[in-house]
Amino acid sequence: MTERTSDAPRHHRALYGEGAAIVCDNLVRIFKVADLEVVALQGLDLLVDPGELVAIVGASGSGKSTLLSILGGLDVPSAGRAIVANHDLGQLTRSERTRYRREVVGIVWQQTSQNLLPYLTAAENVELPMVLEGRGDRRARAAELLELVGLADRADHRPERLSGGEQQRVAIAVALANRPAVMLADEPTGELDSTTSADVFALLRRVNAELGTTIVVVTHDAAISEQVGRTVRIRDGRTSTETVRRTELTEEGHRAISEEFAVLDRAGRLQLPKAHIEALELSRRVRLRLESDHVGIWPDRERAAGEGGPGESAGASPGRPVGPGPVGPTAEEAGEGARRADGGSAGPGAGPAGGGGPTGAPGAPSGGGRPPAARAADHDGGEAGA
Ligand SMILES: Nc1ncnc2c1ncn2[C@@H]1O[C@H](COP(=O)(O)OP(=O)(O)OP(=O)(O)O)[C@@H](O)[C@H]1O
Ligand SMILES: [Mg+2]
Repeated sequence: MTERTSDAPRHHRALYGEGAAIVCDNLVRIFKVADLEVVALQGLDLLVDPGELVAIVGASGSGKSTLLSILGGLDVPSAGRAIVANHDLGQLTRSERTRYRREVVGIVWQQTSQNLLPYLTAAENVELPMVLEGRGDRRARAAELLELVGLADRADHRPERLSGGEQQRVAIAVALANRPAVMLADEPTGELDSTTSADVFALLRRVNAELGTTIVVVTHDAAISEQVGRTVRIRDGRTSTETVRRTELTEEGHRAISEEFAVLDRAGRLQLPKAHIEALELSRRVRLRLESDHVGIWPDRERAAGEGGPGESAGASPGRPVGPGPVGPTAEEAGEGARRADGGSAGPGAGPAGGGGPTGAPGAPSGGGRPPAARAADHDGGEAGA
């Protein structure tokens, strides 16, 4: 799934989420603790295509596990809709929900001990979901799955006699037992060292590629989030940015390109990266102007400078436009790497022919009256875009 070519159709479907494996539409989850309300998800939108492998990243407390619990059918949203493999999770009866958890999703948690029963062998753990389902061929299927995860020779071991990485492999086999359409993994490599963690993640990729299972994996590990076609960042309970990666064929061979986008929700709302907000001291309200191929954002400095808006000032400070590029050229959250191409940088609208770049061409001519500072911006690509 590292070769997605365009993300554009995602936002232009006739019906929101039509054909998607996972649809989160304005998802809200509020926890009430005594007199306090914690809004863990505040109108989160997310679409995942069938067969996609998506990484979810975000600061601690941003709502990642809350999202996965809802998608896993373990928790229900306070408002909004979540649809997984055509199951509307808000509409399920109790028994439908139980069946959903057993048949439609497979979950792998961070704590190895949470995934397996300690008194059962690896093979018995894998068989268990099939026992509950009343499947006849479960022994053969368990053997097949342990083979798939590379642990055929550990079938008779109990978890205590398996390493952390092996336990997570068995957990993946357990999650796959009933051939789920979607696999959810919450920090599945969080307790593993980096080598083991890379192995376990390689297995997830193989499951995704060979079985076509749609996988959503929450991770703090940049080495992992950089290997997937799309990484979605959650900030304060909403999807804020998406990094899309693909490979491009150049004369020197294949080149990995990654680009970060801001997520525009269905109501037209956009989260500006903190770095952009701070760089221009944006607060409370901003000026927007529609250009032929982008939207400019300017700070509201009217009162301070006592003059007009963007474009009306011939190069004076108030109309200074936002720096070039869609999102994250300053690598706001460097952990996940804002935009990389084999260690280099692919600017917005630079290079990615046919990609989801915001502007057609670097330095494309914009509408008249554009503040000169915009042109002076010394970045490698397009212009303020949203
Ligand atoms: N059962 C609960 N009761 C009350 N508050 C909760 C509950 N579960 C989560 N929260 C709160 O909701 C917010 C989101 O929590 P969540 O566990 O989804 O974060 P996270 O992104 O998974 O964080 P981490 O990276 O630390 O795992 C946090 O403020 C958390 O304290
Ligand atoms: Mg969590």
